[in-house]
Amino acid sequence: MTDSADRMLAFPPAFLWGTATAAYQIEGGWNEGGKGESIWDRFAADPGHIADRSDGRVACDHYHRFAGDLDLMAALGLSHYRFSIAWPRVIPDGDGAVSAAGLDYYDRLVDAMLARGIRPYATLFHWDLPQVVQDRGGWAARATIDAYVRYADVVARRLGDRVKDWMTHNEPWVFAFVGHLFGGHAPGLRDLPTSLAVAHHLLVSHGKAVPAIRAACPGARIGIVHNLEWVEPASDRAEDVAAARRHDGAFNRWFLDPVFGRGYPEDLLAWYGAAAPAVAPGDFDAIAAPADFLGVNYYTRRVMAHDPAGRGAAGREVFAARQVYWPFVPRAHFDEWEVAPEGLYRTLLRVQRDYQPPAILVTENGTSWPDRPGPYGAIHDMLRIRYLARHTAAVWQAIQDGADVRGYFLWSFLDNFEWGFGYTKRFGVVHVDYETQQRTVKDSARWYGALATRNALALGDANATW
Ligand code: FCB
Repeated sequence: MTDSADRMLAFPPAFLWGTATAAYQIEGGWNEGGKGESIWDRFAADPGHIADRSDGRVACDHYHRFAGDLDLMAALGLSHYRFSIAWPRVIPDGDGAVSAAGLDYYDRLVDAMLARGIRPYATLFHWDLPQVVQDRGGWAARATIDAYVRYADVVARRLGDRVKDWMTHNEPWVFAFVGHLFGGHAPGLRDLPTSLAVAHHLLVSHGKAVPAIRAACPGARIGIVHNLEWVEPASDRAEDVAAARRHDGAFNRWFLDPVFGRGYPEDLLAWYGAAAPAVAPGDFDAIAAPADFLGVNYYTRRVMAHDPAGRGAAGREVFAARQVYWPFVPRAHFDEWEVAPEGLYRTLLRVQRDYQPPAILVTENGTSWPDRPGPYGAIHDMLRIRYLARHTAAVWQAIQDGADVRGYFLWSFLDNFEWGFGYTKRFGVVHVDYETQQRTVKDSARWYGALATRNALALGDANATW
């Protein structure tokens, strides 16, 4: 390795490296320990919804195999782990009795992390809403805010002596729009006012959960996770510039502005018109509750052009914008996603400049390729290594240029159930054979583990942190 490559990899001493997963995507055990039905159980049961007609009933069977999975994580030198908690496991009917077995499961999971020197980072809502709550209106109903805050309080009380890092929500944009406007995720609705009400209630519930978690867990550090994209206009025509600004507004600013105390952006409020959500007195104050970090999930940039018909898929016409692809920019196995590490760099600097969050964590970044073991069993996923090398270098450069980034979580530790794509997309650095549940470490996991152990807080030092 050359000197300059060496310097490239010199991250700040307290920078943390981790991996991420989500409950529905890996756990399986869908009806065990008294778990209630989630909207994803219901949605995936309809054969038209998931590309390979699969579901998350077994997934990676992590519910039963977590000890072995965490052994592997520790052996790779990965000492920070972002996981999510399934609300229907903890409170099967949403706001009623707490399931002792459900809480015990997460208790054991957290203890198993700590026993291996792995620091836990818990996401409270990564999209698996109890189905009964959906039956009562789901996140479109204001009452769901209170049910969620109670759930957050129950979990923080039980785990808060050991879990200090909390994420209230994962990607409100995806949950609200893909689930309630494009119909591609649970609960599979297609209605703009509903999407905007859902997004609003998610944000209010985030703000209300922050003080509840703080009260239940002294020393907690709390943030919300947004998926952000770097947006560029397809040309300098005024219409394309406006389309790019609209996409940026709907995707990025709509979710960042209120969290940082600015309410909703005026240009988007005007665009949405009567579809805009009802904002109750005090909502914006609640949403802007001081947090400890902003979580940024980054996968791609988008080049946008004006197009009244949208991007073809139902619901996209709402934004009168279409994505344009340049033939010379590589795309991942996730077809819509250009591989664009400079977008991560620009996004981090933009967030730093425009919002000055108290700290930034990259809470997801990664890529899907159709990896499978070769004749000798190894998985040489060079494209993923290349992706990770370029994106971690983008983070490094952003830090040099002033972004206060404290850590990076790779999506994902394991291949898993990729929502509407089922098991057809493999984001893991560890391969999962879904027939046998055998795990195979990909080359990228070794590469990433080496980066992490060279640069980060040491394994076994789970109390040391950013
Ligand atoms: C993000 C989700 C995560 C996973 C990755 C690929 O939008 O948070 O669960 O699906 O995309």
